[in-house]
Amino acid sequence: MDVMESKKDPCSVSTSHIRLSKMAFVSESVPVALLLWTITILSLRTNCRAEQEEDEGLALCVTSRRQVQNFSGQNRTQVPHDLKSDTQYLDISHNPIGKLKAAPFQRLSQLCFLKVSHCGLRLIYPGLFVHTPKLKFLNISHNLLDYIPDLSLPLLKILDLAGNQYDSYQLPATFETMANLAVLSLGSKNALQVDFNDFDSLSESSLQHLRLGGGVRWQRYDRGTVAKLKSLQKITLKVPFCENFDLFQNLLEDVNETQTTDLELAKVFPDRCNVTGDPFRNLRSMPRVTNLTIINTWINSSFMVTFLKNVFLSNVTMLTFLNLTYSEDTPDGFRFPSLNHTMVMRSITFDQVQHYQYQYPIIDISVDIFLKMTFLKFSGTGMNILPCHVMSSLPSLETLDLSNNLLSDTGFWWVMCPSTGVFPKLRRLSLRKNRFVDLSFISKKTHQMKKLESLDLSFNLIRLSVQCFWPVHITELSLSNNNLGNRVFPFLSQSFQRIDLSKTGITALTQEDLLQFPVLTHLFLSFNSIKVLPTNLSPTLLSLYIDQNAVTAVSQETLAGLPRLRTLKAGENPFACSCNTYWFLTALNKSLLPDWPLDYTCSTPLAVAGLPMSEYKTSKISCEAWLQAAIALSVTVVVAVALCSVFYACDGVWYTKMLWVWLRVKRRGRKQANLLRNATFRYHSFISYSHSDSPWVHAMLVPSLEGAGVSLCIHERDFMPGQWIVDNIIHCVEASYKTLFVLSNHFVQSEWCTYELFFAQHRAIHAQQDSLVFILLEPIPTNSLPKKFLKLRTLMMQQTYLEWPKDERKQQVFWASLRSMLQVADHRVLKDVALALVESA
Ligand SMILES: *[C@@H]1O[C@H](CO)[C@@H](O)[C@H](O)[C@H]1NC(C)=O
Ligand SMILES: *[C@@H]1O[C@H](CO)[C@@H](O)[C@H](O)[C@H]1NC(C)=O
Ligand SMILES: *[C@@H]1O[C@H](CO)[C@@H](O)[C@H](O)[C@H]1NC(C)=O
Ligand SMILES: *[C@@H]1O[C@H](CO)[C@@H](O)[C@H](O)[C@H]1NC(C)=O
Ligand SMILES: *[C@@H]1O[C@H](CO)[C@@H](O)[C@H](O)[C@H]1NC(C)=O
Ligand SMILES: *[C@@H]1O[C@H](CO)[C@@H](O)[C@H](O)[C@H]1NC(C)=O
Ligand SMILES: *[C@@H]1O[C@H](CO)[C@@H](O)[C@H](O)[C@H]1NC(C)=O
Ligand SMILES: *[C@@H]1O[C@H](CO)[C@@H](O)[C@H](O)[C@H]1NC(C)=O
Ligand SMILES: *[C@@H]1O[C@H](CO)[C@@H](O)[C@H](O)[C@H]1NC(C)=O
Repeated sequence: MDVMESKKDPCSVSTSHIRLSKMAFVSESVPVALLLWTITILSLRTNCRAEQEEDEGLALCVTSRRQVQNFSGQNRTQVPHDLKSDTQYLDISHNPIGKLKAAPFQRLSQLCFLKVSHCGLRLIYPGLFVHTPKLKFLNISHNLLDYIPDLSLPLLKILDLAGNQYDSYQLPATFETMANLAVLSLGSKNALQVDFNDFDSLSESSLQHLRLGGGVRWQRYDRGTVAKLKSLQKITLKVPFCENFDLFQNLLEDVNETQTTDLELAKVFPDRCNVTGDPFRNLRSMPRVTNLTIINTWINSSFMVTFLKNVFLSNVTMLTFLNLTYSEDTPDGFRFPSLNHTMVMRSITFDQVQHYQYQYPIIDISVDIFLKMTFLKFSGTGMNILPCHVMSSLPSLETLDLSNNLLSDTGFWWVMCPSTGVFPKLRRLSLRKNRFVDLSFISKKTHQMKKLESLDLSFNLIRLSVQCFWPVHITELSLSNNNLGNRVFPFLSQSFQRIDLSKTGITALTQEDLLQFPVLTHLFLSFNSIKVLPTNLSPTLLSLYIDQNAVTAVSQETLAGLPRLRTLKAGENPFACSCNTYWFLTALNKSLLPDWPLDYTCSTPLAVAGLPMSEYKTSKISCEAWLQAAIALSVTVVVAVALCSVFYACDGVWYTKMLWVWLRVKRRGRKQANLLRNATFRYHSFISYSHSDSPWVHAMLVPSLEGAGVSLCIHERDFMPGQWIVDNIIHCVEASYKTLFVLSNHFVQSEWCTYELFFAQHRAIHAQQDSLVFILLEPIPTNSLPKKFLKLRTLMMQQTYLEWPKDERKQQVFWASLRSMLQVADHRVLKDVALALVESA
């Protein structure tokens, strides 16, 4: 078979197409299958396995976002000193720190996650970790430490010390205390040998995963060293063994004595390495190792044959190549002979394959040897056409992952390939991150795959055009990360149970959209712009993802419409923290929410923006209207009752009356100020009273008023003798600014007639009714006055009168009011009244 020489241009995809069609024909007649794919240098994804451990650390340590402190890459020269004492997570990686001092850690007794990688650390002050006994995750990798620090952290689970400069893997004796250590990374460019006693302090530990090696060749490995780590389940070696395969053999024998099932080998050979012999022969006699992963390694087709023969004859069921550079150094490409042996291999993964020759690889291997293979992943390889008779013929294949390639509708369903009997057992197909476009075309083509249940078309270029006809056996579809919009629902099948529409540009979800899916159980709508969740969404739904949308509240009504719901992911939405969230915060069973409480933050109102929702406090009272009303009502009643009783107890009525008097006086005072200035009066007031009241008048009234500078006309004193009484009255009234009547029952009965006469004669005084002031010495209800005293009745109705109080404190107010009535123009007096009122009240 020819080696297809293509241009050394990774982008010549269209020419590859034509050449490939020829190839496809050739391969049809040959019993062995032929696998080819185009060469493309794809942008490489970084290996995200380590991130998983950081996520694990986050999950292990953090209960609230508030306890996360992230200073990564901020060009800081030291750890901030003012960290909150409840900090659980501290990332200060990628900062030029140099020395890690103890002081900033003194208060951080809750610290559980610490990352200080890429900080140029040369020194860690001894005793620093005494302050942080709760540490479970510590990453001090990629620094300049020339020793492995003494650590004694009983709770520590994950420790990364890789990428430093120590020259020995000898672990300090204090490591003995770290009984919980599960993951340990060790690696230094300066450590060139592994000595027999290096890991002694961990021999009693329960270490599960050891990463070892600084990417440099070792000069010595003492047989038996790793064998001491009995509980080891996974070992990752980052050591090139070229031309030194004895070490590798020894190491494998040691690994064989532990519990290791996972063997990861990073860069086992340098790019230019003349691999002689059969370094992987030991694999055949290592019964426990079932997972083998080869990372960042160059492999020649010639070596691949010997390597795979060992693997296929071993117990390895899961083989993974990550970031493989494949070179064809044999003219026939990769040719693998049939095996007599039934192979146990179940899963093969190729993730990121670079083709050194920039040409189609030629792979010649019988599918018959893969009788038990159920999983195949071929990702990041630049494949743009699915080779006929290879993957589609694998008899037991259940899962095929062709993500991150260059496949398109017609590249996957290549016209020249047979379309019957393909993928006999395939249940799950991932075509994620390719170039598929036509959903209708795909829906028709999937009828060929009789067993297919799940199809992943995320990260493609899917467009919605004409109607789709999905086979009933497909129950799961992912269309996430395609630009589809709200009209996607009619293009889906009613037999779908799981639908992933994350990041598809949906802005609104209606009840009608979901009506057509009678068996829908899982709906993923993350990363859209949905604002409102309708009620009565779906009675069958078990799981709903609505995180990273524009939802402001999850209401009780919405959840009532999802009676079977078991999982609701609703984090990272702009929640409005108000009474709308009261039910959500208090009544909702949080075991429903896998992302609670970390991803729930208040967005509005501004006052609580950024506050973790779990810390938002709202009370039943402030949120339930009827309760509020009831409480408000009872409080009002109580207050009112209290006020009333106080009012009565303190003679509120009387004081109110006084206040009223005072206010009227004040109002009138202004009007009369001028009048008073122009008029000339001899007296402020003429006082009229009954003889029987004269003791009060002389003992109280006169001294009190005259004492305050009020001049009075009193008939016993100031009447001209010999004159008729009424003339005297008229004289006095005319010479006085006001006329003061001291009213009592006695006065009304005995004296009033005189005044009736007086009023009759001097009608003019009617116009000046304001000049009359009445003092009630004792209560005289207006109604009880005799009918004939019509005048008095009207006057008392119209005029304000002052009642003489028995209480002494009130009497002060009385006097002040009275004085003010007689001296209205004098502001000082008014003020006195006010003060007197205030004081006694
Ligand atoms: C420690 O930090 C380095 C650098 O960021 C990272 O590559 C590594 O995966 C981290 N280790 C763990 C165990 O997460
Ligand atoms: C911390 O900050 C770095 C850089 O900004 C970022 O990559 C990392 O994801 C952040 N970590 C967390 C836990 O948010
Ligand atoms: C970091 O800070 C130093 C001074 O402290 C400055 O000279 C340098 O330019 C800064 N680097 C960056 C990337 O900001
Ligand atoms: C691994 O251990 C088994 C016994 O458990 C033994 O038979 C086999 O030879 C060992 N293989 C190697 C490579 O040491
Ligand atoms: C692969 O083959 C090339 C050329 O024959 C050789 O130079 C290189 O060392 C080989 N590498 C490995 C890892 O086998
Ligand atoms: C590899 O080594 C073998 C023997 O050690 C030698 O015969 C062969 O020529 C070498 N190949 C290369 C490409 O260096
Ligand atoms: C992939 O492997 C090559 C060596 O074969 C290495 O140079 C490169 O850095 C690796 N890429 C990643 C992303 O690890
Ligand atoms: C398969 O078995 C047959 C006879 O048992 C033998 O002749 C043949 O060489 C074997 N093939 C391989 C690849 O082991
Ligand atoms: C919440 O739901 C879980 C599982 O359904 C249940 O075990 C738990 O008791 C519930 N908690 C409350 C407070 O109802």
